[in-house]
Amino acid sequence: MRIIATGSYTPSTVLTNDFLEELVDTNDEWITSRTGIKERRVTTNENTSDLAYNAAISALKNADIAPKDIDLIVVCTCTPDAFLPSVAGMLQRKFDISCMAFDLNAACGGFVYGIKVVTSLMASSSFKYCLLVGSEVLTKLVNWEDRNTCILFGDGAGAVILENSDKKGIEYTYCDAKGDMDYALKAGGVPLSNPFYKEDIKDYRIEMLGSEVFKFAVNVVYKSITKVLEKTNTNIEEISYFVCHQANYRILKKIAKDLKVDEEKFYMNLEKYGNTSSASIPIALDEMNRKGLLKDGMKIVLVGFGAGLTWGATLINW
Ligand code: UT7
Repeated sequence: MRIIATGSYTPSTVLTNDFLEELVDTNDEWITSRTGIKERRVTTNENTSDLAYNAAISALKNADIAPKDIDLIVVCTCTPDAFLPSVAGMLQRKFDISCMAFDLNAACGGFVYGIKVVTSLMASSSFKYCLLVGSEVLTKLVNWEDRNTCILFGDGAGAVILENSDKKGIEYTYCDAKGDMDYALKAGGVPLSNPFYKEDIKDYRIEMLGSEVFKFAVNVVYKSITKVLEKTNTNIEEISYFVCHQANYRILKKIAKDLKVDEEKFYMNLEKYGNTSSASIPIALDEMNRKGLLKDGMKIVLVGFGAGLTWGATLINW
């Protein structure tokens, strides 16, 4: 299984650190030095399915295939338009095609989980082309009065087309989760409501214990990179790029240091988009692709981590 094309879409409205200074007690210096983020994109009248659709269109165009060629649509998202229908179903309707379509929620670990699920389904079916999208409108879940979290998140979508092929492509994917740390990063909470029992409506906005998630991330990203290298008998020097979930540049710099890898190999674009959860890896991949950084045969490692807590890594021969 291999990725034959990438695409992405981010809304045009930019929310700068300076703007956030108007909302909460923060400043550009704190946000930049603690996170690396300068600005993020925010939707005005578009929802998760609109971002997903635009990213998918650009990936299809780059793959030079038609929507009707797609056998499976998986959308990784923790911020769908609605509980029902799925965002993947909405895409299928917009494309007016017939295929298996569903959403996957593993939060910021979602895109790597998506690769695991899609490649497994492809291996056990006759699917030829699959569309995998990471799309989020996280700003729906942001508490704009909480300076600990409102500075971090942005909206966007990235997509890839996977082809069932004999070429080496996606070599090995590892995913894991630690549910007993669910308290560290939470949002949502749908109240029970039926004729026998009713709960009060709870605050649905994001709450995060930042430093706990930071320590978890440094630990699991290191472990998952080491694991995929071991499983594929690959030396770390053979890896051209590590494309990790874009949560905080300090996490990525620390991992580069721990692995004794040049920081330049850890691709970063979070200064422009902030944390876009499951969309951050495919947005970064598409940006790298458009810059011509990804060459045939190059080995790259993708790493996702986030709420759940979930994490995972995949080794790809581009
Ligand atoms: O996408 C899923 C994965 N998510 C992550 O990986 C996020 C991981 N965590 C982080 O990136 C970092 O923990 C944060 C960026 C969220 C926070 O950075 P930190 O260095 O861990 O800061 P902290 O939470 O320990 O807070 C340090 C200080 C506190 O003040 P006191 O108690 O030392 O007086 C905070 O109240 O900074 C204060 N603070 C702020 N100050 C100005 C927290 N947020 C802000 C802010 N502006 N926006």
